[in-house]
Amino acid sequence: METLARWGATMSELTQDEAFLTLYSDLAREGPGAAADLGWALSVAGTPAQARICDAGCGSGADTLTLAKERPQAQITGVDKIAQFVAAAQKRVAPFGERVQIRQGDMARLDGPYDLIWCAGALYFLGVTEGLRAWRGALAEGGRVAFSEPCLLARPSDAARAFWAEYPQITDMAGIRARIADAGYRVLGENLQIGAAWENYYLPMERRIASLRPGATGPLADALDAAEAEIARWRAAPSEIAYALIVVAPE
Ligand SMILES: C[S@@+](CC[C@H](N)C(=O)[O-])C[C@H]1O[C@@H](n2cnc3c(N)ncnc32)[C@H](O)[C@@H]1O
Repeated sequence: METLARWGATMSELTQDEAFLTLYSDLAREGPGAAADLGWALSVAGTPAQARICDAGCGSGADTLTLAKERPQAQITGVDKIAQFVAAAQKRVAPFGERVQIRQGDMARLDGPYDLIWCAGALYFLGVTEGLRAWRGALAEGGRVAFSEPCLLARPSDAARAFWAEYPQITDMAGIRARIADAGYRVLGENLQIGAAWENYYLPMERRIASLRPGATGPLADALDAAEAEIARWRAAPSEIAYALIVVAPE
């Protein structure tokens, strides 16, 4: 309950934002993802050993940590807008010293230059086309972007559509390719994240919900209910719920 102690609030006094952060802050990651997929993206992007890498929307730094291990000579910057995630990520990457930095900021305004901008489950906040356009100036010569994005599979069931109801902009792989082309990028490789990447997110969240549930009232109980309902919607169609993981380069 480190978070609650820091904010000096009791559970019944929590605001919606605090309840959200209480649930999400101590999770290993804040969205679906898997270290093996990140390794695949680094290989497709041809990210060199001494690369300058940005983890855009890094959350609490799960992938920043993997990037630091996969590229032990790289300079890595994680950027996130939420102070509590930034603090958690800073703590996680502290053993890597100066070469891995986390800062609070808006990923729509990256400086660079970066050889790779990695963005797991966060580009949809900007929009694929808008975000890729915004990042163009932050890419070094030969730089790449690798990102994951919700992706509708062929003939989605009602359960899959229900899962994505809160993201009406969702499209299929062809639609994502069109958004990438609109931004003036070309696709170097694409993959689907189904199953394991989602378990990495939802299974620890289930344990977190169980640990917070006793005594939870008000906004915290609401946040736990909402997260439980989301997990139930995923369980209704796990083989249909996918992120597309895509590596792109500017034209
Ligand atoms: C679904 S989480 C994914 C976090 C992390 N990449 C992971 O996979 O664990 C999305 C993250 O994007 C961050 N975010 C959203 N919009 C942002 C913005 N404009 N600038 C910086 N971070 C942003 C959120 O704070 C959140 O941490």
